Amino acid sequence: MKTRLASALLFLGFAAAAFASKEKPVIGLSLDTLKEERWQRDRDTFTAEAQKLGATVIVQSANSDDTRQVRDVESLISRGVDVLVIVPHNGEAMTRAVKSANDAKIPVIAYDRLIKNCAIDYYLSFDNVKVGEAQGSYAASRLPSDRKARLVRIYGAPTDNNAKMFKQGQDNILGPLIKAGKVEVLHEDWALDWKPENGKKIMNAAITKAGRTIDAVVVSNDGTAGGAIQALLEEGLAGKVLVTGQDADLAACQRIQRGTQAMTVYKPLKNLATLAARVAVDVAKGNKPAATSTLDNGVKKVPSIFEKVISVDRDNLMSTVVADGFHKAADLK
Ligand code: GAL
Repeated sequence: MKTRLASALLFLGFAAAAFASKEKPVIGLSLDTLKEERWQRDRDTFTAEAQKLGATVIVQSANSDDTRQVRDVESLISRGVDVLVIVPHNGEAMTRAVKSANDAKIPVIAYDRLIKNCAIDYYLSFDNVKVGEAQGSYAASRLPSDRKARLVRIYGAPTDNNAKMFKQGQDNILGPLIKAGKVEVLHEDWALDWKPENGKKIMNAAITKAGRTIDAVVVSNDGTAGGAIQALLEEGLAGKVLVTGQDADLAACQRIQRGTQAMTVYKPLKNLATLAARVAVDVAKGNKPAATSTLDNGVKKVPSIFEKVISVDRDNLMSTVVADGFHKAADLK
């Protein structure tokens, strides 16, 4: 049985390799997860653009499991893809798989999240420090100034390099206020795997520890903000505490309309996914598309491109997220 499966996979590998050509490249897209709404859009836009350019995309999603994602990438390598596009669950665990790609001379593009300490060819993302700065400044400019402001901080997955960059951006704004004694951090923690239930647990722990007087919760994304807001709802505090987020998920935009979430950071995914498909096809054809920036991943300065982000609250929801066609106004009611 095992041998039959192995030979079937081998056949598929040869088939993909046989169809791969400079004009019709095969792209391997390895995703950490498809759980958050955003990654489904990334996948769909990326695939549509790549197909428009004559490429085939093989998509794998690892369900937040490092072992599975390394296996996914290795199977894409053995299927003979021309280029790999990877959203790593863990930017350090993925190093091993990238080394296998290097050995097979398959170029690698890190998408949205950086892969560290290995030779990747490109890094395409948003300005992740700016995301954190947008969250930090939104909260900072709305905190009480007649007394010490009371803040809770919920960071993202500790395995995701982006989560560290979001925190760094928040620190750029909040750090000086905390140092000056204007803001007190009542509780802070990292939400494992970006799971909403972990956001909720951290918020529950914060309320238990610090009580109900909380001015703001700086949360790094919409999924975990949803969890935190659930905890606030159960305490009758939703809408009374400022909560930040990121991704402009539909549920988050609805919460912004209803007033239980104050802001999100809109990342025009269409721009990033379209760009990534174009770069991937170009790289597969042996070209070296121009980058606008570089980022040190520990072993090299990786050619990078960073897309812009937009801070969104109830005042500009229509003129940004809706005007861009990201969500329909009718769905935000
Ligand atoms: C980050 C990503 C965010 C958010 C989070 C959870 O790396 O930049 O947009 O969705 O992962 O998937």
